[in-house]
Amino acid sequence: MRSRANLASHPIHPMLVSLPIGLWIGAFVFSLIAYFGQRSAFNVAAFYTLIAGCVGAVLAAIPGVIDLFTVVPDRSSARTHGYLHGAVNTLALVLFAYAAIRQGSPYDAPDQITLLIELIGIGCISYSGWIGGTLAYRNQIGVEHLQANAGTMKERTVESFDRPVCNQSELGEGQAMLVHIGSERIAVARCTEGIFAFSDRCTHKGGPLSDGAIIGCAVQCPWHGSQFDIRNGRVIAGPAEEHLKTYDIEITAGEVYIRRQPNVPNRKAA
Ligand code: FES
Repeated sequence: MRSRANLASHPIHPMLVSLPIGLWIGAFVFSLIAYFGQRSAFNVAAFYTLIAGCVGAVLAAIPGVIDLFTVVPDRSSARTHGYLHGAVNTLALVLFAYAAIRQGSPYDAPDQITLLIELIGIGCISYSGWIGGTLAYRNQIGVEHLQANAGTMKERTVESFDRPVCNQSELGEGQAMLVHIGSERIAVARCTEGIFAFSDRCTHKGGPLSDGAIIGCAVQCPWHGSQFDIRNGRVIAGPAEEHLKTYDIEITAGEVYIRRQPNVPNRKAA
């Protein structure tokens, strides 16, 4: 899923997170030296790196929040990871801001409680980094996939089911696109037997199927590899157990329309 907050296709959030991580860890090291070494110059360094880390955290949060609400599929395990990542980072921000307030000024020395608060804050950003790793390396948030024949994945928002979602010539064989209609995320893909529309939400943990690989007339979820037949939504391979919602389509003058009512499968995979 391509990041919305990007610079030349590179997600901005991972570029900026190094600011709070480096500055806050630096602040903790400076605080330790100031406390145990009784060096006043390190009081100054600790105080200002604490504040700079807080500013860096706010800057890093902005593209992170944008991607959380525009890229990460809702009702998915990645959205839960994203909320947890944001909550732990917010806690870290509060802790380090409180550490700066507690130190008081660049001329005051940090006390034991301040050191302890900073240490807990470092624990928070370490845990948050671990969740961030899950988001990036397992859920592939911010990873830009190319499709068969090196096509960039298309994404489109249409006002209603009465509007065409694409022209049939836009999709080559083995290619998919993501269409937003109201609150629905619908994948449209072409396989050897034509164009088919199906729910973008994997029935396992909500993975984005439009971002998966189209193999024959099957789609493989990018998160844990479940496979579905895109013609009828049937599960071909798990871990998903529930069949996928599919939609009938209509092609008029080359324009592809999705029928409003999905075909809701009424049974699990055998
Ligand atoms: S979300 Fe787990 S296989 Fe799709």
